[in-house]
Amino acid sequence: MRVLVFSSHPHDEEFLTRANADHGHELVFVESRLRESVARLARGFEAICAFVNDDLSEPVLRALHDEGVRHIALRSAGFNHVDLDAARALGFTVARVPAYSPYAVAEHTVAMILALNRKIYRSYNRVRDGNFALDGLMGFDLHERTVGIVGTGKIGERVASVLSGFGCTLLGYDPYPNPAAIELGVEYVDLAELFSRSDVVTLHTPLTPETHHLIDAETLSTMKDGVMIINTSRGALVDTVAVIDGLKSGKVGYLGLDVYEEEEELFFENLSDRMITDDVFSRLLTFPNVMVTGHQAFFTEEAMTDIAETTMANLTAFEQGTPSGNEL
Ligand code: NAI
Repeated sequence: MRVLVFSSHPHDEEFLTRANADHGHELVFVESRLRESVARLARGFEAICAFVNDDLSEPVLRALHDEGVRHIALRSAGFNHVDLDAARALGFTVARVPAYSPYAVAEHTVAMILALNRKIYRSYNRVRDGNFALDGLMGFDLHERTVGIVGTGKIGERVASVLSGFGCTLLGYDPYPNPAAIELGVEYVDLAELFSRSDVVTLHTPLTPETHHLIDAETLSTMKDGVMIINTSRGALVDTVAVIDGLKSGKVGYLGLDVYEEEEELFFENLSDRMITDDVFSRLLTFPNVMVTGHQAFFTEEAMTDIAETTMANLTAFEQGTPSGNEL
């Protein structure tokens, strides 16, 4: 089957091509992010493969449909960027990669907690500059600190597993408590209690209308002064403007983001020769206690292999008219 792969980078081409050896699809890779103006590139392709910042809103889906596309293979777990109602109405099948190495995102989450706490990013630069002074680098023992995990699915559970090894007190909030997390020592509480008791709040929920701006001015006001907030899930879980106010007042003591509300215009590209016009994002980068990575939490060899293999299996299932079980 002919498949057009949008938002393709050399690593996507490498892993998808390797996984395709067992499937024999004709893959065509384009760097362009999917949006309405480029949907016509899909003419003659029965399927497209899309990533997290591709636009799969109703007008784009309609344009793809007009070009003859019938299947959308998401190479991501999250699907908040797809208008599923419109996709169904147009007769598309949409499949995703519901599970891949949860260790990748969980380990990046813990890396952010440790790097922010011990200011590794600052000491790295200082030492390279011949500055061995310790002022401003003091951290805290994670041992016996309280970490609130919002969303205790596959990734949240792994975060709990790693942090239990540090001797943290673990609180969890999830509408569907996970027995494995309870086994790891997670105490389920309501969201208000989790926010008020946690030294570190880490987000592992999908982005839905319910979780949009889960962290905003109101919820921040209920948290401990100097709280650490980590978001490796989806940018819009956090109201960035409110969190900037929290950083300015000292309410937020540390902020680690792998995702950002308006990341579509920034992430996955080398913009080092250009001016960043997003003033909110630029403001974030001025704080010494903020660390941002560019949506790289998933980016391990194991996760990329899982993603590519499941994506290819989803495409083959569509071609053969048999459900893969990963359809939305
Ligand atoms: P999962 O589906 O295994 O777990 C999500 C959990 O969130 C479930 O237990 C669910 O019950 C819970 N949940 C749903 N609504 C909730 C709410 N209102 N409040 C609290 N919990 C709620 O998903 P998984 O694999 O653990 O992934 C979590 C998120 O991580 C994904 O939705 C995705 O947005 C993000 N992600 C980020 C990546 C990155 O590279 N930064 C890569 C992969 C996933």
